[in-house]
Parts: sequence; C-alpha cells; structure tokens
Amino acid sequence: MVEGKKAYKSARQSRRGGSGSLTFRLSSPPECSDPSSTDQTNKMSSHTLANTFRSSRLIYRAVDDASPVDQGFLFSAIDNDPTGVGNLSFCPVAPGNHAAMILIAMTKGSLLRVLACLPPDESTGPEAQPTPIGFAALMPRAPDAAHHRHALLGVVLAAPFRGQGYGKEIVNWVLDWGFIRGGLHRIGLGVFGYNERALKMYRSLRFTEEGRDREAVMFERQWWDVVNFGMLESEWEKLRG
Ligand SMILES: CC(C)(COP(=O)(O)OP(=O)(O)OC[C@H]1O[C@@H](n2cnc3c(N)ncnc32)[C@H](O)[C@@H]1OP(=O)(O)O)[C@@H](O)C(=O)NCCC(=O)NCCS
Repeated sequence: MVEGKKAYKSARQSRRGGSGSLTFRLSSPPECSDPSSTDQTNKMSSHTLANTFRSSRLIYRAVDDASPVDQGFLFSAIDNDPTGVGNLSFCPVAPGNHAAMILIAMTKGSLLRVLACLPPDESTGPEAQPTPIGFAALMPRAPDAAHHRHALLGVVLAAPFRGQGYGKEIVNWVLDWGFIRGGLHRIGLGVFGYNERALKMYRSLRFTEEGRDREAVMFERQWWDVVNFGMLESEWEKLRG
C-alpha cells in the first residue's frame, strides 16, 4: 500500500516534469549479470515485477468491459474522434461506424489489452481514480498462432493527450511487457501512409520498416500504402542495452 502510494507520487512528479523515459527497464545488461547469483536474479525480478503496470508518467490497468467509464472512454476517444477512426480502422470516417466496438471485439482475449491512465490526483481526495488517456493491445496475428510468439500492436490516445510523448511512452511500455512478460519474439503493426505522427513515432522508436501493402487504403481521394513495421526480441534487447 505504502509502496503503491510512493509510486503514484513519483509518477505524478514525473508527469509534471518527467522526461517520458521508462522506469521499467532491464536492470543490467546481460553481460554484466551473473546467472549463478540467486541474489541478483531475485533482486532484478522483484524490482521489475513491482513496476510492471507503470511507466514514467502512466499506470496501466485492464479494460473492464462492463464498466461504463471504460466503455465511455473508448467510445468518446475513438468513435467520436475522426482522427482516431481515420488512423486506426479501415472503416469510413463517419459518426457511428463502431470503430471502437470493432476494436473492443477484436482485442477480447488478446495477450494484452490495457487502458493507459494518468495516476489519480491525490489532492482531490482518497477516492480519486486514475484517468484513462489511451488504449493499447497486443493481438494475435491469427487464431491458434500463439506458438509463433508474434503479436500485432494497436495503440490510440484520446485527442487532448496526443503530441506530448505519451504515445512513445505507451509503446515502449508495451514492448517491454511483450518481451519480458508476454514471452514474445516479434511485435508488428501496420500504419496508414498518411498517418505521419504514427510513422514518425515507430521510426523514432527504432521499429524496422519491413515492407508495404501498396495502395491498400483510399483516403481523401488518394491511394496510400500500409507501412508494415516490426521489432524482434533481439532488436529490443539491444535497444534497452
Ligand atoms: C499515433 C499516436 C499513438 C502517437 O502518440 P503521440 O503521443 O501523439 O505521439 P508522441 O508525442 O509520442 O510523438 C511521436 C512522434 O511524432 C512526432 N509528432 C508529434 N506530433 C506530430 C504531428 N502533428 N505530425 C507529425 N509528427 C508529430 C513527435 O515529434 C514524435 O517524434 P520524435 O520522437 O521523432 O520527436 C497518437 O497520436 C494517436 O493516438 N493517434 C490516433 C490513433 C493512431 O494513429 N494510432 C496508431 C495507429 S498505427
């Protein structure tokens, strides 16, 4: 309990002035660790386990499909936001096209399906709740394909929280979760060619551009490619040093 409070406090502090870098990191590079040292192994795993549902400014929790708060967030953040719909789904950008419902259905039973939240503002009292600002999931690429250890990443932020580094923070957290906790070998995704912010984000996070589905999307009377990105476990390991 005390530990949790401290963590929220430090998350709030970094929210005010934080760099967006992860608190959740591998504790030491593989060449420095001694696998025979039980002490060190225990230390590392307890450290990382305690921080599993946090990144520097955010906390992560499961989506509650029965919760009006969660459903309301997903509907307002995605269905009622043309930028969300137009960048996330193949649906026409129209009100009521149920992009959120499709996303919710698609991600049910996924390896990971979370709301990224700002920590509760304790100054408003003990009842304060985390504020959802984004959604992320690691979905199976195909049914019955878990043995390939490959997942598709999906992420969306509510409009007021875009452009402040939260996207990179969430994707970094999902990568860490996927490779450390999810046992994955590869994380991939496709970005519509007109989604400059997402293209910039995945390139800046050092995903590899693996290919394109050429002219697969019609947007504003133009054909656009779907740009496919991927990151392998070995590449992530090098990045985290
Ligand atoms: C895509 C998305 C998750 C990115 O998250 P974000 O918090 O807005 O992005 P960040 O602030 O982390 O910035 C990511 C990169 O985009 C750049 N960027 C920010 N605003 C931008 C804009 N308007 N145009 C182009 N690039 C932009 C940032 O500079 C950063 O690049 P850098 O690290 O090289 O400086 C978010 O904008 C979103 O939810 N968009 C709608 C849904 C969507 O597109 N999902 C992804 C589908 S694949």
